[in-house]
Amino acid sequence: MSKDKRHWRRLPEALAEPGWRWIMTWIGVSNMLSAYGDEHRRLRKLIAPSFTARRTKAMQPIVEGIVAELLDAMDAQPPGRPVDLRSAFAHPLPMRVICELFGVPAHMRTEMAQVMEAIMDTTATPEQAEATAVQIATVLPALVAYKREHPGDDLTTELINVRDSGDSLSDDELRDTLLLLIAAGHETTVNLIGNAVHALLTHPDHLKGVLSGEISWSAVIEETLRWSPSIANLPLRFAIEAIEIGGVRIEAGDAIITSYLAAGHDPDQHGQEADRFDPTKEHGEHLAFGIGVHRCIGAPLARQEALTALPALFSRFPDLRLAVKESELPHVPSFIAHGWGSLPLLLRR
Ligand code: HEM
Repeated sequence: MSKDKRHWRRLPEALAEPGWRWIMTWIGVSNMLSAYGDEHRRLRKLIAPSFTARRTKAMQPIVEGIVAELLDAMDAQPPGRPVDLRSAFAHPLPMRVICELFGVPAHMRTEMAQVMEAIMDTTATPEQAEATAVQIATVLPALVAYKREHPGDDLTTELINVRDSGDSLSDDELRDTLLLLIAAGHETTVNLIGNAVHALLTHPDHLKGVLSGEISWSAVIEETLRWSPSIANLPLRFAIEAIEIGGVRIEAGDAIITSYLAAGHDPDQHGQEADRFDPTKEHGEHLAFGIGVHRCIGAPLARQEALTALPALFSRFPDLRLAVKESELPHVPSFIAHGWGSLPLLLRR
């Protein structure tokens, strides 16, 4: 199986169809997520060493500092007023961490966050998708230009140095690698934190178990990733040769969507109660970070952020609860990103 769009037999049709514009942000870009074979290895090798468990651990003081600052700001809200967990905590934490890592200056962060949210919006009209493509083509080159003038001890500067020291990274690959990493760093961990908080607040027995120390935070995080993964579905893979799976034949050149949400609920893999959130049970390995050569390189960072954020949040606000009925919570408008568009909470009794 390949992720290179050149292996898709319907690519010419997709390129000609305005309704398909949005998908080009996913498959029409030049980064490791949409590359195959040697090209994939080359692009992944440039950045993977920056996300090892050891490099990620070194980020811990920064993560803790941001968590404490965000909790203080929530604490300072007038009593009784609902606080949206997404905008007050779950979103700014990963956004600030990834912006620190990539040296994104303060004046570019709001626009950067807007672009990353727009990429995930799979309800966008062709016009909106076109506007997002234009924004990507502006915002990321602006970051590169800024970092060329103001280099720092950050990953954008490192990638610019690779670009400028030879032919191992083209301008498009530099732009699209930044796009992938900043987008992956933003939206996915946001939903991991939001989905875990939602799962605990709607399963009070498990919340009690976590607060009493019977259930570990790691178990909550892994169970959230299985039951409610931050990426529900990911476009696209392409069959290089005909494949037969469970009696279904996929022809060479056909497109395939991988569904991490469906995989996490598969009773053959996770038992007859796979549809239930239960961090007390051993459910077997989940696929929320993918598998194989494209496996997520940010998994250690995402886990570390969640493992810092969740205990700190519930230790500061042990009586946290939903401020609206569960049925009133809006989903993120996407079949790729999977989470809550807002999560209004009451902080205290
Ligand atoms: C809860 C958080 C996260 C989830 C659920 C998640 C999920 C995924 C998944 C499912 C893939 C696999 C794609 C595939 O097989 O085609 C992937 C790839 C990737 N992720 Fe993550 N991700 C998360 C956080 C992050 C973070 C924080 C970063 C980096 C800052 C990151 C960077 C990447 C990159 C660069 C790839 C592409 C790897 C490749 O194609 O070789 N992710 N992620």
